[in-house]
Amino acid sequence: KTTIRDLSLKGKRVLVRVDYNVPLELDKATNSYVITDQTRILETLETLKYLIDQKAKIVLISHLGRPKGKKNPKESLAPIAPLLSRLLGVPVKFVGDCIGPEVDKAKEQLAEGEILLLENTRFHPEEEKNDPEFSKALASLIDVYVNDAFGSAHRAHSSTEGVSHFVKEKAIGFLMEKELKYLGQELEAPRRPFVVILGGAKVSDKIEVINRLLEKADSLLIGGAMAYTFLLALGHKVGNSLVEPDKISVATEALAKANERNLKFLLPIDHLVATSIDFEQKIAKSLEWTTGIDIPEGRLGVDIGLQTMQSYGQEIKGAKTILWNGPMGVFEIPGCEKGTFSIAKSISENPSAISIVAGGDSIKALHQSGLSNKVSFISTGGGATLDFLKGKVLPGIASIPDR
Ligand code: 3PG
Repeated sequence: KTTIRDLSLKGKRVLVRVDYNVPLELDKATNSYVITDQTRILETLETLKYLIDQKAKIVLISHLGRPKGKKNPKESLAPIAPLLSRLLGVPVKFVGDCIGPEVDKAKEQLAEGEILLLENTRFHPEEEKNDPEFSKALASLIDVYVNDAFGSAHRAHSSTEGVSHFVKEKAIGFLMEKELKYLGQELEAPRRPFVVILGGAKVSDKIEVINRLLEKADSLLIGGAMAYTFLLALGHKVGNSLVEPDKISVATEALAKANERNLKFLLPIDHLVATSIDFEQKIAKSLEWTTGIDIPEGRLGVDIGLQTMQSYGQEIKGAKTILWNGPMGVFEIPGCEKGTFSIAKSISENPSAISIVAGGDSIKALHQSGLSNKVSFISTGGGATLDFLKGKVLPGIASIPDR
């Protein structure tokens, strides 16, 4: 793909689509919204610093939340301007819309190296409809379109796709480049053994990713509630564990494909079980480790067991490429986090491997265990990362021409 390095940017008005879809919380003391996780903002700084150095006139656009085409203070990008200004050490102007005369005026007044942040693109219903008129308005007075919003690249919206048709020069930013390097190049021809750890509640959420990775990985280690559907497909007892009976046939097909390909498809061989879970109170009752693969009547699986942690750890230790997506159990409930944390630890103990972590829960567990700096790459995408791993063409990436 064409990157910002390939273009001459001095004095040009550059529209940068970032993914500042960050969590906001109302601070009651000051009655203002604060950003509770800055990761996605921090990850854009390299691109922005480069654009400042190149003396571009920078206009930033993003969505935040799902405001359904209506303006509201809970989903305003306004709190991001002062934070960004602090992080970059330059003033960041903010205008309360993303199209229109006031925005155009602010764009015209931008000096070289200056930054203007515009309001949430989803305050306009046209954004998600990928309306050409709206896309054209976003492109007004713009010379170069830069897409650095990997997390939104699976959406064919005006700011991620449509606008590219109204701007001549287009490029990806450094964050997008990094995502493509790790999720694309590194996984396209991975150094082997390539070990994939997949967790999460549902087979239905992950089956396309599993099927795709079955063609590439050497080992697939399965955890989370989706493991119970696979175990059921193999005829094991799963007690009251969460299962998807209508997904047994796709689970069986995936198992057969793994067999055919002679790859290791590992399922938990023991478990942590409870009699019930209360998600509201964050309590799992009567936690107990099983010694075997079957889950007794009246119990439900809440995490992988001790022997499973050991055998998964062993696989991870021997890997040259590692991809982890999804927790091994209900790690948000105290007592049920050991399996998920053990994966983070095993990955950190293999520093010579290329390790990629994706998905909100696995990233959270990685941060909580203080091991974030021990992995090669943390993907900023949610749905975009999964779509990419499924092998789908992402419209936000397709909108930027190859070099
Ligand atoms: C995300 O958080 O995954 C992206 O910002 C996309 O958000 P969306 O699912 O609301 O389109």
